Amino acid sequence: MTVAVNAHGQNIKEDSLKYNLHSWSVQGELDPKVITKAEGIYFWDAEGKRYFDMSSQLVNVNIGHGNQKVIDAIKNQAEKLPFIGPAFAVDVKSEAAKKIIEVAPDNMGKVFFTNGGAEGNENAIKIARMVTGKYKIFSAYRSYHGATYGAANLTGENRRFPSEPGIPGFVKFIGPYTYRAPVEFKDEEEATKYYLTLLREQIEFEGPDKIAAIFQESVVGSNGILIPPKGWMQGVRDLCDEYGILMVCDEVMAGWGRTGKWFAIDNWNVKPDMIAFAKGVTCGYVPLGGTIVSKEIAKYFDENKLWCGLTYSGHPMGCAAACAAIDVYKEEKLIENSQKMGKILGEILEGLKEKHPCVGDVRYIGLFSAIELVKDKETKEPLVPYGRDPEGTMKKILLILKSEGFWNYSHDNVLIIAPPLIIDEIQLKEAMDIMDKVLEFVDEIIK
Ligand SMILES: Cc1ncc(COP(=O)(O)O)c(C=O)c1O
Repeated sequence: MTVAVNAHGQNIKEDSLKYNLHSWSVQGELDPKVITKAEGIYFWDAEGKRYFDMSSQLVNVNIGHGNQKVIDAIKNQAEKLPFIGPAFAVDVKSEAAKKIIEVAPDNMGKVFFTNGGAEGNENAIKIARMVTGKYKIFSAYRSYHGATYGAANLTGENRRFPSEPGIPGFVKFIGPYTYRAPVEFKDEEEATKYYLTLLREQIEFEGPDKIAAIFQESVVGSNGILIPPKGWMQGVRDLCDEYGILMVCDEVMAGWGRTGKWFAIDNWNVKPDMIAFAKGVTCGYVPLGGTIVSKEIAKYFDENKLWCGLTYSGHPMGCAAACAAIDVYKEEKLIENSQKMGKILGEILEGLKEKHPCVGDVRYIGLFSAIELVKDKETKEPLVPYGRDPEGTMKKILLILKSEGFWNYSHDNVLIIAPPLIIDEIQLKEAMDIMDKVLEFVDEIIK
């Protein structure tokens, strides 16, 4: 029987390589795993091997795999009304927006639904330009905001390059990254002051009367889990208020309980003007994203035309999944579990930092965490240089983790760890024991 499964798996892989273009990859170098089953925090390949899903796929399957409540909601919606155009009022579309507004910061007013996160940002860019009449858009170098043209131009890292030369008016700033700051800070407040001074100066140089919005990931995700220092978010809010600039939070990855709050910005009690979201809103069961706008921005569009639209804006299947997923977060107390398990994960990570010479820094908030690998703790020389992995070192580390049943991904010299929010203490410790073992191998590499 096993042979038959493997043979079938082989056909799937061959066809996938023959007919599918895979994201962000040299196609000829690929060897994709064939996946046949997923349940809870695990998934299985065609050979029956089980993996801990320690990145919740692309940090989106927050409620875990195979949640029956969400599956039933999708099935029921498919029977009832799988699609109707975006101009109509539909129960699940109104309900999903209402549920989102109820858990968003209390200044938020309305939701424009999209298919995913990039489009959430695209529409926030357009709305910021419409509302302010200004055109410049600020975003940070260490950021990822999506792969469509506008979102790619927002993106600070090298996934932006294929979309360059970019859209005029997109300006990058250097956001806080205290571990690799060019100067030593005595505390977080000092770091905040330093980076805010740079940002203020850049706003002045670019012309505040031309800047529509400042976009930020509330916690920088795939670029290394960069948690803003104390006071940073409030400082950006103050600068935005002072200069009449809109503050936009990209919560596509950091939102939906990932950091132990509904939205990551809630950790600092700051209220942005817009929020882009996706991923955890449906946990990937069907695609959905969107742009949440403040009551003030919503009011602006009472008398001004919203020049945004998508055939699938507010797709009933996506909205039904969102309603059910939000109920699951509440019923299963997943925001609380993210905080509780996040605390345990933090302690484990601190232990790994203490123990392993290759661990330069660990960063964690809720179940959103990173291990930054270095060649030398003192000099902080990264295990691989920025934007490159000339000897395939990180690739090798990920392969070993996978062979041990720990599935996650990396960015530069950073391992991202972001398990589903349903994980329990035993599972978390079991998975992190694997990480501990693999870090011993990395210690050997740097010797
Ligand atoms: C912070 C952030 N913004 C936007 C996106 C893009 O979302 P999508 O891939 O759904 O377009 C991502 C995807 O990883 C992300 O992490």
